[in-house]
Amino acid sequence: MPRILVIDDHDNSRYTLSLILKKEGYGVIESENGSRALQILKNDNFDLIITDLKMEKVDGFDIIDYVKKSSPTTEVIVITAYATIQTAVKAIKLGAYDYIAKPMQREEIIHTVKKALEKARLVEEISTLKRQFKEENVRNSIIGKSKPMIHVMKLVKEVADLDIPVLLLGESGTGKDLIARAIHLQSKRKDKPYIAINCGALPENLLESELFGHVKGAFTSASVNKKGLFKEAEEGTLFLDEIGEMSLSAQAKLLRTVEHNEIRPVGGNQTIKVNTRLICATNSDLNKKVDNKLFRSDLLYRINVFPIKLAPLRERGADIRLLANYFLIKYSKKFLKNVENIEKSVYTRLESYPWPGNVRELENIIERAVILAQKDTITDNDIPIMIENVILDRLDVSMENRSLSEIEKDTILSNLEKNKWNKIKTAKDLGISSTTLWRKIKLFGLSQKE
Ligand SMILES: Nc1ncnc2c1ncn2[C@@H]1O[C@H](COP(=O)(O)OP(=O)(O)OP(=O)(O)O)[C@@H](O)[C@H]1O
Ligand SMILES: [Mg+2]
Repeated sequence: MPRILVIDDHDNSRYTLSLILKKEGYGVIESENGSRALQILKNDNFDLIITDLKMEKVDGFDIIDYVKKSSPTTEVIVITAYATIQTAVKAIKLGAYDYIAKPMQREEIIHTVKKALEKARLVEEISTLKRQFKEENVRNSIIGKSKPMIHVMKLVKEVADLDIPVLLLGESGTGKDLIARAIHLQSKRKDKPYIAINCGALPENLLESELFGHVKGAFTSASVNKKGLFKEAEEGTLFLDEIGEMSLSAQAKLLRTVEHNEIRPVGGNQTIKVNTRLICATNSDLNKKVDNKLFRSDLLYRINVFPIKLAPLRERGADIRLLANYFLIKYSKKFLKNVENIEKSVYTRLESYPWPGNVRELENIIERAVILAQKDTITDNDIPIMIENVILDRLDVSMENRSLSEIEKDTILSNLEKNKWNKIKTAKDLGISSTTLWRKIKLFGLSQKE
């Protein structure tokens, strides 16, 4: 419940105002003059101050001055008679948020108060983000305040300086890359190399020479000696992404390296000592791979010393707003746009969507929305319509391997066809405005088959 301090020396207007606010559910404290208000302000915090301008001794300007100095993010609304709009303007220049003219209208009061509180909330959120940005270098901007995320940050901190292997588990797009880098950056090895490689991206023998190096002449294209990534990351960290995709032969070699801290380059018969911190990641179930003889159990045992599980985004709803705002700032900067806000209804939609592609999907959608935004606020029109429960519930297609816009396009097309291209009915079914539908039809180049 937001708390509001109402300062006015006219008993009548003070009573009326505080009554209206109390009815709206706000916590209201009244002060019958400016000096008393300063005393109250010294000992208490408010979300909002509403003050009359013209008062004996300590007036509204003094109040603004005091509040802006002692608690700059607290908003002040001033009350003024029509005749003194000039002074209201002066008050705003001094830092007041807005003014309410006398005689006060109930609707106007409620509206202005809501806006001021919303602004205070945003300012607070932005300052949280700024704080997180500042810690960027240390924490590599891991954004999150949900329980699972706080726990992960704690684990990262604990394990960073222990020279043991870490295994990162989690669905695609949950932040495994990000966390791996964060562990490196928080460790003593932070000034040494950090090298990441995706084990699924290379064919078997290439991966082995990539990791462990090879000697000249080991195979046709091996015209010079190659150090290998383990040696390249000497004294630093090597991140093996998608470890579950590694061939059994490469697994055998990796096991030896982990057990004895040495590598044997392909085609060579000498072993070389290495000092490299290993972080592995996978989005597959390694135990199942062990059962199916696709993964060595002894290797799993070695790399699974300190597992960190990253929860899917749908299980950390508290992070969605924060991440959305973080990406908003990131992409506004990148595309030189000044998109600063996200409409309330958009938040609601983002928060009820199950995010199969996790943080990466959210990032893509905000990036796209920043590009589409016409003004300084992201509106429903800038968000793909499939980010909505209504439609998702009816979406029986497999989400895998399909881009968001494909799913969106197909959903629209099938609904149009079902409704024999009746656009009003289709828009209604999809829960979007007919303007949006029209825009999407144009965007995807959809047309009615003869
Ligand atoms: N907590 C977070 N704070 C800020 N950005 C995040 C966070 N989690 C993920 N991201 C961002 O989301 C994107 C996807 O994250 P990342 O690449 O680390 O996921 P991943 O788990 O490695 O996915 P994959 O399994 O597909 O490789 C990245 O751009 C990353 O920076
Ligand atoms: Mg990754």
